[in-house]
Amino acid sequence: MQEATIHHTPVLADAVSRLACVTPGETWVDCTLGFAGHAHRLLADGATLIGIDQDRDARQYATERLAPHSDRVQILAGNFRDLQTLLAEIDVSGVDGILADIGVSSYQLDQDERGFSFRRLGPVDMRMDRDRGETALDLIERLSKKELARILRKYGEEPFAHPIANAIHQWKDGGGALNTQTLADVIRSAIPKGVRVKLKHHPATRSFQALRIAVNEELAVLDGLLDAIPKLLNPGGRALIISFHSLEDRIVKRRFNEWAGRNVKPGPGGRTLPSPVRPTFELLTNRPIIASKDECQANPRARTAKLRCVKKLGLVA
Ligand SMILES: C[S@@+](CC[C@H](N)C(=O)[O-])C[C@H]1O[C@@H](n2cnc3c(N)ncnc32)[C@H](O)[C@@H]1O
Repeated sequence: MQEATIHHTPVLADAVSRLACVTPGETWVDCTLGFAGHAHRLLADGATLIGIDQDRDARQYATERLAPHSDRVQILAGNFRDLQTLLAEIDVSGVDGILADIGVSSYQLDQDERGFSFRRLGPVDMRMDRDRGETALDLIERLSKKELARILRKYGEEPFAHPIANAIHQWKDGGGALNTQTLADVIRSAIPKGVRVKLKHHPATRSFQALRIAVNEELAVLDGLLDAIPKLLNPGGRALIISFHSLEDRIVKRRFNEWAGRNVKPGPGGRTLPSPVRPTFELLTNRPIIASKDECQANPRARTAKLRCVKKLGLVA
């Protein structure tokens, strides 16, 4: 991988550093090492770091970038849904902080052959871990029209899920080859022109998001990570999660609220009832932290980022 081709800027880096509030010598896990932007910052703040990524390119780049700190860094291959097992394999049962900056990196998006972007010509792949699993094309080939439409609706909140699924099947059945460009064109053609011209985003945005989420099981792996956090954090430890779409943010918000003993749903008559659950965490962000206008201008990926943080109370779990 060419270093010159990487233009990754970590999102909300100052807020991450402030909320992480690292005491030198603490052990932190960066579950989404990527290009080690946040990892670098945590190390600069004095942490000892365990970095995880499921993408081999990211691990390779991060290993090189973090080489000057190699005495305080361990890099692991794997999916953060298996966090507890991955840490157990290196004899770690408790940590002081967990960070996850979930989703794809700008580098992954920019690589034609990864197939994440409708702006580039490539195979319909979309796997973050290219060493295993089904590609988006495999998924499209396997699913019925109805199942495909369900995924487009559920993970992309795409109002034209059914016409799009029909159009994709028609294209395939007619012998049309599917690459990122033909797929984007077929999706575009299935959305009525009157709607298309009013869209603020590319007509294929929602469908590509949906396929990517399905291929990488992004919501299920996030649930897996959230299951592990209370078991792995030492008392006083912090968890920070940055998400990039409302489906993920909703999951994080709900779980953090539960842990903090906040009722997620209002009771009868809209009143908020006291939670029957004893809080085990403190919410350090009542509302998610979002990027400033300047940061969004400098780094468009920051536009949809939402950062939430909790701190484990000093109780015995
Ligand atoms: C947005 S980038 C992280 C960027 C990083 N915070 C930085 O500052 O350079 C997301 C990274 O997380 C990885 N990733 C996403 N989901 C993952 C998962 N479930 N398990 C492990 N790695 C994951 C992706 O491969 C990608 O490299």
